[in-house]
Amino acid sequence: MKRILITGVNGQIGSELVDRLLQFVDADKIVGLDLRPAMPPYVIAHETVDITNKEALRQIVEKYQADTIFHLASLLSAVGEMNPDQAWHVNMTGLKNVLDIARGKNIQIFWPSSIAVFGPNSPRQNTPQKTILDPNTMYGITKRAGELLCQYYHEKFNVDVRSVRYPGIISHKTEPGGGTTDYAVAIYYEAVRNRVYTCFVAPDTCLPMMYMDDAVRAAVEIMQADLEAIKVHTSYNLTAVSFTAAELAREITKHIPEFRCNYEPDFRQEIALSWPQTIDDSAARADWNWQHKFDLAGITTDMLEKLDKKIRGRN
Ligand SMILES: NC(=O)c1ccc[n+]([C@@H]2O[C@H](COP(=O)([O-])OP(=O)(O)OC[C@H]3O[C@@H](n4cnc5c(N)ncnc54)[C@H](O)[C@@H]3O)[C@@H](O)[C@H]2O)c1
Repeated sequence: MKRILITGVNGQIGSELVDRLLQFVDADKIVGLDLRPAMPPYVIAHETVDITNKEALRQIVEKYQADTIFHLASLLSAVGEMNPDQAWHVNMTGLKNVLDIARGKNIQIFWPSSIAVFGPNSPRQNTPQKTILDPNTMYGITKRAGELLCQYYHEKFNVDVRSVRYPGIISHKTEPGGGTTDYAVAIYYEAVRNRVYTCFVAPDTCLPMMYMDDAVRAAVEIMQADLEAIKVHTSYNLTAVSFTAAELAREITKHIPEFRCNYEPDFRQEIALSWPQTIDDSAARADWNWQHKFDLAGITTDMLEKLDKKIRGRN
């Protein structure tokens, strides 16, 4: 991990992965790529490029002599359902471009899959690593196809690509980009701003979640693991904690007693109901020693403290 390219760097995960990598890599060894221009504080180089443009991508990889690519550029689940053609194009062409460029070169790739690979017939409790995968969203279909593409490029062309199935990611730096689990971030913003939130899933909707600190650490740790330790070449199940929307609201009221949460489920409710409630990630824990650090109480304390400073400017 000497020269790193992060695609989708402006997004929820990319923006925080930069901070994590800067703890052990110099800023001039990291370049970000996104469809959107650079965001402040402009610490690393930035290229405004469409990931579906293979030649432009190849030139950037060569220009910066990248040996590591964190490929995060994507359309997420809710946005993908509104633009299925675009979701297929960006998610599949983008991933294949990255894999093709890495072929025959010593370039290591991290690409996140998602719990969206599961579907209505997957077991919803303690969902196993290997099980029925019948996603019914375009986003989930691109993730499932992407997992198989990664495994194919590893087996046929020896490409070192590593992947995890992220659950919903909760963070405070960059607001999420249109996923089904966005409510678990928005609820904190609205609790701090207005003391009230209207949630787009029902109170008993339970999904697996993870704090951003854990999510970016997982990305770095799977990339640092010995190749022989990586036994799953599609994508590892990964989780931290599962809770319902009502349990999340209750945890917030421990800090903000006047907070109220209302529920008005929309089309994202149906997507949430097709995803697991709890995940078996024992393969990741055994193979490359995955361990989460943040539970719901820890996430809530940190989120409210950070957002209070960000929104209200309190020290
Ligand atoms: N955030 C989550 O809860 C979550 C959960 C599971 C998996 N993931 C996966 O993690 C990855 C990153 O997710 P995120 O939450 O940071 O997403 P995000 O939507 O916040 O960011 C994605 C970034 O990709 C950029 N992008 C979109 N189309 C592009 C294109 N054609 N060319 C270049 N850049 C483009 C966007 O401008 C955006 O900055 C995705 O693969 C996503 O599927 C995220």
